Amino acid sequence: MRTILFVAALLPVSVFAASPATAPAAFAQCAACHSVTGSNGVGPSLKGIMGRKAGSFPGFRYSRAMKTYGKSWDKTNLAAYLANPQQAVPGNTMPFAGVPDASQRAAIVNYLATLK
Ligand code: HEC
Repeated sequence: MRTILFVAALLPVSVFAASPATAPAAFAQCAACHSVTGSNGVGPSLKGIMGRKAGSFPGFRYSRAMKTYGKSWDKTNLAAYLANPQQAVPGNTMPFAGVPDASQRAAIVNYLATLK
C-alpha cells in the first residue's frame, strides 16, 4: 500500500520533471482541436482553463449548453467532463467521447493546471 501511494505521488512530478509545460502523451488527442496558447481551433484555447468560467474564452463560438453551464473549471469538474463530456455538460458540442483511463485523465488535468 505504501509503495503504491509513493508511486502515485511521484507520477505527476515525473511527467513535469523536464519542464512544467511539457504535455503528457495523453494530451495529444486534445491538441488536435485545442491550442494551449491564445488561439482557438476546432475547440477553444485551453490557456488559463483552470479557474476560467466555462464557455468564456474570447472569440470562440460555444454551444448554448457550454455557455450556460455556469461553473468555473476546477480539477473536479474538469476530470468529470473529460471522463464523460455529455454526462457532465449535457448538450455540449465537443466531438469527443472522453478519456476512459483515470490516470490519463489525471495527467491531463494536472497539465491543464499549468496552462496560465
Ligand atoms: C474533435 C475536437 C476536440 C477534441 C479531440 C477535444 N475537444 Fe475539447 N472541445 C472541443 C469543442 C468544439 C469544445 C466546445 C464545446 C461546446 O461549446 O459545447 C470543447 C470544449 C472543451 C472544454 C471547455 C472549454 C471552455 O472554454 O469552457 C475543455 C476544458 C476541453 N474541451 C478539454 C478537452 C481536452 C482536455 C481534450 C482531450 C482529452 C479535448 N477537449 C478534446 C473540441 C474538442
